[in-house]
Amino acid sequence: MPRVNRTVVLTLLIASSSVFLLFQLYYYRTYVSKAGPHILSRTGQLTASDVQWQTVKKFLAVTGRCGSRTAAFSALTGQSHRSLCTPTCGSMILASYWLLSRKALSCCSCGARIPDWPAWTICQGEDIPLHFLFRLNGYIIQVVFLYERSGNYLWHGALRLKANRDRSFAPFKLLDFGRHAGAYDRPELVLTVLDGLDIQVPRNVSHFLSEQQHSHFLECRYRDARNFLQLYPDDTSPTAMDFHRKAKSLLHLAARTLKQLNIPFWLSSGTCLGWFRQCSIISYSRDVDIGIFIADFRWDIIAAFRDAGLSLKHKFGKVEDSLELSFVSEDVKLDIFFFYEDADIVWNGGTQAKSGRKFKYIFPRFSLCWTELLELKVRVPCETLDYVTANYGSSWSIPVRSWDWKSSPSNVQENGVWPRAEWVELIQVY
Ligand SMILES: *[C@@H]1O[C@H](CO)[C@@H](O)[C@H](O)[C@H]1NC(C)=O
Repeated sequence: MPRVNRTVVLTLLIASSSVFLLFQLYYYRTYVSKAGPHILSRTGQLTASDVQWQTVKKFLAVTGRCGSRTAAFSALTGQSHRSLCTPTCGSMILASYWLLSRKALSCCSCGARIPDWPAWTICQGEDIPLHFLFRLNGYIIQVVFLYERSGNYLWHGALRLKANRDRSFAPFKLLDFGRHAGAYDRPELVLTVLDGLDIQVPRNVSHFLSEQQHSHFLECRYRDARNFLQLYPDDTSPTAMDFHRKAKSLLHLAARTLKQLNIPFWLSSGTCLGWFRQCSIISYSRDVDIGIFIADFRWDIIAAFRDAGLSLKHKFGKVEDSLELSFVSEDVKLDIFFFYEDADIVWNGGTQAKSGRKFKYIFPRFSLCWTELLELKVRVPCETLDYVTANYGSSWSIPVRSWDWKSSPSNVQENGVWPRAEWVELIQVY
């Protein structure tokens, strides 16, 4: 009898666990099609990529067990799955080593000398982990370490392989992160359950993915800036310090205002030169200059800046030609130059109020990159050297205090005169 009982019990157990397994499979598929479409819908073929998913799952399970804040991002695309970790916890690293020690993974760690950035004082001279690449079951898992930087944004480094590294370890060209350093707004993370695993994902995944397209980050040239400051020491007079403080708050305010309107802008003219040459602002420049593509112009910019407490100082030109807005706050001017694209060049206009003369400043085409200035994540032309050289000539590295915006820039051209009948409309000074 006991033997029969045991068989019955075993059979019952097997039957119930099969039912449970079937239920799990059912739940798995329903869950995937319902609760997780924002993550998985791109492929939606988990059954076809079971191995891939198991690989990711194993990794997430181990890192999750170690209590790390792992957030899986983006769709499961063909070859790679990406996860992110804020390295404050450190347990991601432990988890990785745990996996490695059990030979569950093969790994290629891509740490790097920390960027030459003054605020990295804690780990000065040390390597910090930037990317971990794991290979498991023929799949590559890339762990990207995001660091918080002083402008309250997240940063990751570029993936650089040391000379002795195995270049065939992973299809480096196909990896989504690491071709260059990147900057992101801190995403709001939400906890979700994916196939029984607790993971965090950005609340707005599509926003995160669109940010990724434009995340290219340029480090300021801190070493060159230090050399520059040795040659030309910074002005530390109260007037200069005062301007520094006001310009910083004006730049932060402009960034906040334009972000609300979803209008991208970049540092232009003297402000761009200051960032490029000395990683700061030029104390005798007296204003803050930014550029915006005319395609992004909206009339409510003026109202938005007014609401933010700035007053419109002048408005030159029109949307179709040479538009320029100037606001003022605490006696510091914010000049907004609108840029027009024309074949292989980009230009912005200038207007002399008293004579109606028009000017045109020509730049080679450029794309936009993130950088940091005055504790703000802000854009600059990625091809900054070309931009600065176009504007200031090849001697841009030598300070020039007497500057005439009508004749000094290397890229200025006379562009006729506004018809007198239109002055009232096109030359407005407040
Ligand atoms: C998510 O981000 C996208 C892209 O930035 C945006 O268009 C959309 O409005 C955002 N959705 C929510 C709910 O915020």
